[in-house]
Amino acid sequence: MKWTPQMSVGLPELDADHQQLIEIINSLERPAGNTEEGLRQALVALGRYVEFHFAREERVMAACGYRGLAEHQQEHRDFAEKIRSYAAAAGSAAAGPTTTNIELVNYLNEWLRHHILIVDMAYRPVVEGDQRAREVARDFRASEVWWSS
Ligand SMILES: [Fe+2]
Repeated sequence: MKWTPQMSVGLPELDADHQQLIEIINSLERPAGNTEEGLRQALVALGRYVEFHFAREERVMAACGYRGLAEHQQEHRDFAEKIRSYAAAAGSAAAGPTTTNIELVNYLNEWLRHHILIVDMAYRPVVEGDQRAREVARDFRASEVWWSS
């Protein structure tokens, strides 16, 4: 999958996150060493980036008083949970792969495409051109998610 301008949600920082996510998902098709362990590590990396991006996006929506925030957060939580379970499954040698990498990549890309075009796009009118949204997105640091607990 490729990011296209029609996927723009109106904030460069969030668009850059989406581009990065697409790149990470595409890389899952050929994980390091083409092994289960390589796939597991790639899924862990995807999970981390997803957490970072979701937190940043939620911070932006909150800053704008976006009304759909709670519902949107639930979609984020469900997806993050799914990635965690994929990573856990890839790690257990006994379970073995239940899905091919290509199917996995297709599923993740489809979820992301739908999420960006429908769910994210719904906040675009609220955040686009909003100075506060821009500042919150720019100032958000990975450390606020990864080392906060
Ligand atoms: Fe989102």
